[in-house]
Amino acid sequence: MKTTGNIILITGGATGIGLALAEVFLREGNQVIICGRRREKLLLAQAKFPKLQFLVCDVSNDENRKELFEWTTSNYPGLNILVNNAGIQRQIDFTKGTRDLLNSEDEIQTNFSAPVQLAALFIPHLLKQDQAAILNVSSGLGFIPLTIMPIYCATKAALHSFSWSLRHQLRSTNVKVFEVIPPTVDTELDRGARAQRRQEYRGVPPSEVAEATLAGLDADEFEITVGQSRGLRTNTPQEAEQIFQRMNGNW
Ligand SMILES: NC(=O)c1ccc[n+]([C@@H]2O[C@H](COP(=O)([O-])OP(=O)(O)OC[C@H]3O[C@@H](n4cnc5c(N)ncnc54)[C@H](OP(=O)(O)O)[C@@H]3O)[C@@H](O)[C@H]2O)c1
Repeated sequence: MKTTGNIILITGGATGIGLALAEVFLREGNQVIICGRRREKLLLAQAKFPKLQFLVCDVSNDENRKELFEWTTSNYPGLNILVNNAGIQRQIDFTKGTRDLLNSEDEIQTNFSAPVQLAALFIPHLLKQDQAAILNVSSGLGFIPLTIMPIYCATKAALHSFSWSLRHQLRSTNVKVFEVIPPTVDTELDRGARAQRRQEYRGVPPSEVAEATLAGLDADEFEITVGQSRGLRTNTPQEAEQIFQRMNGNW
């Protein structure tokens, strides 16, 4: 996939991995549009990178998704890359019954339903472009779960499976489907939960994921693993069990 001269929409592009992706894509001569729920974060991102365009949008909301599609494709008819990056991560303890589940934002809507619905909305438009791509940002935790965040991990496993099917369905078209599989990354995703549980390792910088994504796009590497996520993606069942115990043993 070409990595310059594209028009790219990044959901959740105002912070973390999304913003790092926006930075490398702008550097490489692409036009970048971002969206997110917090206007102040979008404005801060635009102040840092004035060429960035943005729309306030909650991708978990059906009407908002349709507005995002209409606004981006009418203002940027050449839009040819959709990056499904927006995500949330919550700790949910099922021994408390529905307490955590009902008191938290719906990870299934944001992390899985939104990429599915956005793919369906944008694919007819992407099919009209010379070259196009969908990049779904999943996670190493989609391959081996961290059990304190069971829904998060399940949404990422689902996104992996969906990306695989979509890639196959679109294999004879101009739309390539990529999956970016980050390891632990130092962002605001966990809302301070890593600090609360005294997890010292905060992860790789978002820029590392962004550079690996750019290289993966350029090389048509459809599953882009980064650092430790390579080991989570490719292991034997015995290795997977050992890693699972190491990751979850203390909780
Ligand atoms: N950090 C990690 O360790 C890690 C590892 C593997 C995968 N990932 C994945 O990487 C992606 C980016 O996360 P990040 O680590 O960069 O965390 P982040 O800095 O918290 O970024 C998430 C972004 O998504 C946006 N967002 C959340 N819900 C949204 C919604 N309903 N509609 C629109 N935008 C929404 C947030 O902005 P608003 O709150 O303003 O909407 C935020 O800008 C996520 O899919 C995450 O699962 C992260």
